[in-house]
Amino acid sequence: MVAVGVVGATGQVGELMRKVLTERRFPVSSIRFFASPRSAGTELEWDGGKVVVEDAATASYNGLAIVLMSGGAQTSRELAGKITGEGAIVVDNSSAWRMDPEVPLVVSEVNPEALTSIPKGIVANPNCTTMVAMPVLAPLHARAGLEKMVAATYQAVSGAGRAGVSELADQLETTAGHTEELTFNPASLDYPPAAEFAAPIAHNVVPLAGKLAGDGSLETDEEQKLRNESRKILGIPDLAVSVTCVRVPVFTGHSLALHLGFAEALGPEEATSIISQAPGVRLEEIPTPLLAAGGDVTVVGRIRRDQALRNGLALFLAGDNLRKGAALNAVQIAELIVGIR
Ligand SMILES: NC(=O)c1ccc[n+]([C@@H]2O[C@H](COP(=O)([O-])OP(=O)(O)OC[C@H]3O[C@@H](n4cnc5c(N)ncnc54)[C@H](OP(=O)(O)O)[C@@H]3O)[C@@H](O)[C@H]2O)c1
Repeated sequence: MVAVGVVGATGQVGELMRKVLTERRFPVSSIRFFASPRSAGTELEWDGGKVVVEDAATASYNGLAIVLMSGGAQTSRELAGKITGEGAIVVDNSSAWRMDPEVPLVVSEVNPEALTSIPKGIVANPNCTTMVAMPVLAPLHARAGLEKMVAATYQAVSGAGRAGVSELADQLETTAGHTEELTFNPASLDYPPAAEFAAPIAHNVVPLAGKLAGDGSLETDEEQKLRNESRKILGIPDLAVSVTCVRVPVFTGHSLALHLGFAEALGPEEATSIISQAPGVRLEEIPTPLLAAGGDVTVVGRIRRDQALRNGLALFLAGDNLRKGAALNAVQIAELIVGIR
């Protein structure tokens, strides 16, 4: 049995972590919840009872074996060292540690072997968009050698936390019933101001998900995460990746249109057969975020030849950014660490 801590327990990902730990009957001997000072002292349900939320910054983590973190990158940077110093292994959902060569970046079905060495006591969970793609890309790469990936993402607002969800909900509510204006003159509508996103997200698509990386590339951090994390997880340091990350008015479920170039020929029929046997993946004729949300697998379909790339394949996929994209994979990593998978 394992003493577990959850940092960011009051957030969307934290809420799902609590749910997934229960659903999967993770062998919890005791549990503690942590968040910011704003929610310290409030109570969260666990196993028919209540657990008081502690201030993550001032708490002692002594006695915990595994701490699942989803309190954002700043919190992880500040606290992970303290937590591991007190004896726990950290499974971190933020971007803080993902590219550290001493921190394994793990998708449970794809590279569990990376957990054989955890030098800093920290394991990183990939970005939610990267996560959706990995169970599909890994077996295709194993067969034909992935060389190029051109991607467009369609990312849900819950990827930007509860604040992102509220922003879409408020804008939808304010504009509800105005079908005529939305059709012919949307600019006449008074949208609540955009804060989490670069433009109104209701009835729109915003071709800037995340924030500009600020390195002169004009790419966003989300775009760079997909490139860098795919290279690290798949073990292809020179994988060529061109990506545009787009925020769409979907509450949960990130989707990707992928155009892949391989070293060896790989036709749609064989790719479909390979994907059909891959763990964590389900074939669907029309893979949508609505089909994926609430489930544990990446849904994938529209698999066809890409006419523009050498040995090219085009496909579309979607996955639940909060479950597999964050909470579920973190719990699966914890299961691998404690040896129950
Ligand atoms: N949403 C996704 O799809 C997704 C996917 C992968 C990874 N992640 C990672 O998970 C994090 C949380 O995402 P979310 O969607 O759950 O966001 P959220 O709903 O906005 O929740 C944020 C959580 O972080 C806590 N927090 C904020 N500042 C803190 C601090 N200084 N110290 C301790 N805890 C703090 C919040 O506590 P209070 O309630 O006290 O404010 C809350 O529990 C993201 O920042 C990201 O790093 C998210």
